[in-house]
Amino acid sequence: MKLTLSVIKADIGGFVGHSTTHPEVVAKVREVAEAGKEKGTILDCSVITCGDDIAMVMTHTHGVDAERVHKLAWDAFIAGTEVAKSLKLYGAGQDLLSDAFSGNVKGMGPGVAEMEFEERKSEPVIVFFADKTAPSAWNLPLYEMFADPMNTAGLVIDPSMHDGFTFEVMDVYSGKAILLKTPAELYDLLVFIGATSRYVVRAVYRNSDGEIAAAASTQKLSLMAGRYVGKDDPVLIVRAQSGFPAVGEILEPFGRPWLVEGWMRGSHTGPLMPVSFAQAKPTRFDGPPRVIAAGYQICEGRLIGPNDLFDDPAFDVARERAAHLANFLRRQGIFEPHRLPPEEMEYTTLPKVLEKLKDRFKDVGEPEAKAPGSGEGEVHE
Ligand code: F6R
Ligand code: MG
Ligand code: MG
Repeated sequence: MKLTLSVIKADIGGFVGHSTTHPEVVAKVREVAEAGKEKGTILDCSVITCGDDIAMVMTHTHGVDAERVHKLAWDAFIAGTEVAKSLKLYGAGQDLLSDAFSGNVKGMGPGVAEMEFEERKSEPVIVFFADKTAPSAWNLPLYEMFADPMNTAGLVIDPSMHDGFTFEVMDVYSGKAILLKTPAELYDLLVFIGATSRYVVRAVYRNSDGEIAAAASTQKLSLMAGRYVGKDDPVLIVRAQSGFPAVGEILEPFGRPWLVEGWMRGSHTGPLMPVSFAQAKPTRFDGPPRVIAAGYQICEGRLIGPNDLFDDPAFDVARERAAHLANFLRRQGIFEPHRLPPEEMEYTTLPKVLEKLKDRFKDVGEPEAKAPGSGEGEVHE
C-alpha cells in the first residue's frame, strides 16, 4: 500500500505578537483534523507548532496534491482563524491569502511538504519545522545529510547509501527545477544551493532505486502575494535509517548553528537555533530563528510520536553558540550584513525615501556602475 505523508503549515495568528500560537487555536485545528480522520479523509494526524506557526502532519492514501487532504487542512486553518479572530490574536489568518479554497493550498499561503512511499518494515521519519526563516534554510543541512561524508558516515561505509543521492533544486523566481546527482555533480549542486536567496532544495532521492528521501516546502510567501504578507517559515520531511541517513546523521548538521535569512521583520540574518518543542518561542528581537525536530515511527499509516528530538543536552552547545552569534550580530543593528541587502528585505522604506529625496541627488562626476543584482556584468567567463 502506497502511503502519503503530507505536512501542511500556516501562521493563522500569533500569541503574543508573532511569538507563539494560542492553545485554543491549536485545539481547534486538531479538532477539525480529528473529524477528517473519522470521516476517512486521512489515516492519522499530528498537530505540531513552532513559534507562531501550526503544522498538520498527516498520513493518507490519496497521493501528493490530493484535493480532499488540502481541503481538510484549509478548513482546519479557517476554523483556527475564527478562534484567533475571536481572541483578537495578532495577524489572525495572516497566511490564508484567499477567501475561497480552489483545489490545492499551494499558492494560497500555507506551506506544503509531501511525499509518497511504500511503508517499510519500520518507517522512521523526522519532520523539521522552523520559524522566522525561509525554505532555503534547509539547503545547508540537506547537503550535509545527503552529500557530505564528513557528516554522514553512511555515504562511505553503508553499501545501501554508497551510490549517493539526487537533489531536486528549484529557482524560486522562475519556478523551474533541475535534478542534480551527487557525488558526481556535487560542485554544480553547490553553485546553486549556496545561493540561498534564489535556489532551494525541493526534494532528495536515493540514486540506487529512485526512492524519495526528503521533501521540503518551497513556498515564498513574499513572492506569492507580490508583497510581504508573512514569513515563509518552512517544513521539511526526512526519512531515516536502512538505506537513508541514520536519525543521528540527519540531526548532526544542527549540532552547530549557521546563519539564515529571516528573524526580525524577515529582513535580517540570524543563527538558526535547534530547540525543544517547549523552547520554540522566538522572543528576542522576534527570534533568533528556531527549528524543532519531530520524530515519528509510522505504523500502518499511524503516526507514533512525535518524539521531541532536539530535547537533548547534546544540542545545548549549539543553542549557546546561537545565542552568542545573536549577540554579535545585534551589535551591527540596522547595518548590513546583519540587516539583509535591500533586494532581500521584506520590509523596506527605501523606494519611498528615494522618491522623496530624488531631486537632492547631484551628479558628482563619478562613472556609473551597475547596481548589484541587476544581472548585467555579473557572469565572469
Ligand atoms: C518575522 C515576523 C516578525 C514581524 C514583526 C513586525 O517573520 O513575523 O518579526 O515582521 O514583528 O510585525 P508587524 O509588521 O506585524 O508589526
Ligand atoms: Mg506571524
Ligand atoms: Mg512564523
